[in-house]
Amino acid sequence: MAQSDRSPHAISPPPFPDGLDSGPVTLRRFSASDADCLVEAGTDADILSFTSLDQLATADEVDHWLERRGKEDADGTALALAITEDGEALGAALVLRSDLAEASAEVGYWLLPRGRGRGLATYALLGLRDWCASAGFQRLSLVTNLDNVATQRVARRCGFQAEGVLRSYGFDRYGRREDVLGFSYVVPGCEATR
Ligand SMILES: CC(C)(COP(=O)(O)OP(=O)(O)OC[C@H]1O[C@@H](n2cnc3c(N)ncnc32)[C@H](O)[C@@H]1OP(=O)(O)O)[C@@H](O)C(=O)NCCC(=O)NCCS
Repeated sequence: MAQSDRSPHAISPPPFPDGLDSGPVTLRRFSASDADCLVEAGTDADILSFTSLDQLATADEVDHWLERRGKEDADGTALALAITEDGEALGAALVLRSDLAEASAEVGYWLLPRGRGRGLATYALLGLRDWCASAGFQRLSLVTNLDNVATQRVARRCGFQAEGVLRSYGFDRYGRREDVLGFSYVVPGCEATR
């Protein structure tokens, strides 16, 4: 990851390891062999409603998506990891917007329906959270749809605190501005001192 030379707080995270275990899941980079998972995710109503994942229908679209994720990974702006169980990709854990100069990032995640209801997102977020902390990030944020109770429970279980409604924070898939509930996780030892 590139390091900004403008901020005294800038971090230069190490590359993500080949695989990171967290309970029953392993986080690793996506590869072309995960095409079925990515295509399936792009047709799931909840993933489409609550995340910004592109709809990927063809092998070319998957290749293009992987290429863009690889570039973001290389320049340190984002990181897309597959959540795997017994080697099968069932979802994604994402660093969506890294701000290396501020040592902060936004995280996100999704699971295919067959991966849900077993606490796997909690293990994935704990693994991602702790890797981010070890990589030097000091503050992580997460935004959730106001109605998405399951993800809000995952966030709270992983030590994220709700900060309030962020009005007109972004756009939904149909281009309408939407309010979201903002959460943050401050790495222990990095709390504000004033
Ligand atoms: C959100 C998501 C990642 C949750 O993953 P998961 O591993 O299935 O989560 P869990 O099974 O651990 O459920 C989390 C909690 O929410 C509860 N829950 C699940 N669905 C719920 C619902 N519709 N209403 C209320 N509570 C619900 C569960 O009972 C569980 O409660 P607990 O904390 O008391 O155990 C998964 O549902 C998903 O991928 N959804 C679509 C994409 C998405 O929303 N991503 C998050 C964007 S911020």
